[in-house]
Amino acid sequence: MRRLMIAGNWKMNTDLAAGTALAAGLGEAISGKELTVDVLVCPPFPYLQAVKQAVGNSGIVVGGQNCYFEESGAFTGEVSVGMLQDVGCDWVLLGHSERRHVLKECNGVINKKTKAAIAKGLGAVLCVGELLEEREAGNTEAVLDEQMEGGLEGVSAEQMEQVVIAYEPVWAIGTGKTASPEQAEQAHAHLRKWLASRYTQELADSIRILYGGSVKPSNALELLGQANVDGALVGGASLSVENFGPIIEAGLELSKS
Ligand code: PGA
Repeated sequence: MRRLMIAGNWKMNTDLAAGTALAAGLGEAISGKELTVDVLVCPPFPYLQAVKQAVGNSGIVVGGQNCYFEESGAFTGEVSVGMLQDVGCDWVLLGHSERRHVLKECNGVINKKTKAAIAKGLGAVLCVGELLEEREAGNTEAVLDEQMEGGLEGVSAEQMEQVVIAYEPVWAIGTGKTASPEQAEQAHAHLRKWLASRYTQELADSIRILYGGSVKPSNALELLGQANVDGALVGGASLSVENFGPIIEAGLELSKS
């Protein structure tokens, strides 16, 4: 069985005090529990080190929300893979829809970043997802295929061990409109089929595919219960222990069933 991952994407939210309090609160909420799922939090860059300290030895791991593909040099405003690792990151989110659509990142850049992360042993959560008009035009699968092909070009089967896919329909992000469990399952099954044809069925069966887009305590159990949904990438609801705690709980419950 694939180990579930419950990931929190804090985006450009919190401040130092609130971020460290949230991280410490999450650590307390899961303390004493057997951590049978991976729990990841991705705070803004300036708070990574403090959040890493605040989660302590709770088992929660920390990731960046983005990185650059060069190792160092004249790239004003960018952060390298090595820098993320230096402050204790195990993961990085790549290709998030806000990076694609607000910051205009293309598949080529996302691919370079993915390869840079895994070359250095940093886990990559590669996000893919269609816009509402693409879904309505019946192009969801074609868009997912293009993002998978572009993002994973030149990534070997062996390197895929460090990759997690996150399916995030853009129309469901931050809108309160969640994909139905059936819509999520259908897209996840398609992504797994893509992985099987690009690599092998065995590899496809081993890769985690997270769902993201308005995940909250009230819908987490049903979404996570779908056969091809192996976790959640949570935005808004990851910003409080009251909301993120029960989503982790849902994962823990399912991991034992
Ligand atoms: P949301 O964001 O949970 O607020 O919809 C998800 C994401 O963007 O990762």
